[in-house]
Amino acid sequence: MEDELILSSLSKERGWAIPDLYLFQQFWCPSTLIKEVNNFQKQFQAKDSDIFVASFPKSGTTWLKAIAFAIVNRQCFSIHNHPLLTSNPHQLVPPVEPVYRGDVDFPTIEPRLFGTHTPFPSLPNSIMECNSKIIYICRNPFDTFVSSWIYYDKIKREPLTTLKIEEAFEMYCDGIIEFGPWWSHMLGYWKESLAKPDKVLFLKYEDLKDDANFQVKRIAEFLGFPFTQEEENNQVIESIIKLCSFEEMKNLEVNKSGIIHRFADKKYYFRKGETRDWLNYFSPSMTEKLTKIMEEKFGESGLSF
Ligand code: A3P
Repeated sequence: MEDELILSSLSKERGWAIPDLYLFQQFWCPSTLIKEVNNFQKQFQAKDSDIFVASFPKSGTTWLKAIAFAIVNRQCFSIHNHPLLTSNPHQLVPPVEPVYRGDVDFPTIEPRLFGTHTPFPSLPNSIMECNSKIIYICRNPFDTFVSSWIYYDKIKREPLTTLKIEEAFEMYCDGIIEFGPWWSHMLGYWKESLAKPDKVLFLKYEDLKDDANFQVKRIAEFLGFPFTQEEENNQVIESIIKLCSFEEMKNLEVNKSGIIHRFADKKYYFRKGETRDWLNYFSPSMTEKLTKIMEEKFGESGLSF
């Protein structure tokens, strides 16, 4: 009853993968997530050693989860007998919000690694009050749109029908998408990374693609797990990059089939894994419109793609 009252007071729109999205704490989310985020905010007790892999969906979360897990646990596992060869990254680095639904467990080993799509202003205070770290991965909004449109169509629930690309694009431009508006999501973490560079590391999918070696070193240093000279000489960074590469991960049996977290089909997390795939989907008018929105929203923030 109380839940229904809360829902009836919120703006509602059709979702991409689920029938209804609600505007809760200024972001669009499914009704089930409202309770989870509420409980997350009230009950979550962060530890100084906790690490959060934060992202807007379809920005490279799976990849960054794999890299973060491989970096911080590299003393525990050999690369040839690694948990990433037999488990999906979302199982090793679980999303934190569904813990409050009861069907995902807290990690038992420390440092605890969690994933989150919750926008920065809605994170629990406990995370900000301790020395835990946040690594945020951001992706060119053009590619994020294409990846989202294709992914959500595959996982959409009954009775939803396929959104035409033009319809999805209009919703995207209005910010209506799971965890959107995407610009607020990106800017929330971007600004915090500038204000507190020791707390939030802001990464871009495109930079990871361009120079994985440099970015993996950067992530390791930020998390407090820098590579030694000996490790560098022994090509440890290169082996982590290979272990977490799109080609390797997509071809693992564990990532080819099966469901995790109740509805997510593992194979859909790996599609093309490229930059600039948007060029195959955007019309000139779509390109013009999204470019303009990005200029307006990102303005003088310093965030650009
Ligand atoms: P595409 O749909 O463009 O291929 P998320 O993990 O946040 O859901 O993001 C999914 C996107 O990241 C998909 O992009 C997916 O193919 C890509 N991806 C998944 N694993 C990757 C990896 N190991 N390296 C690079 N990209 C990866």
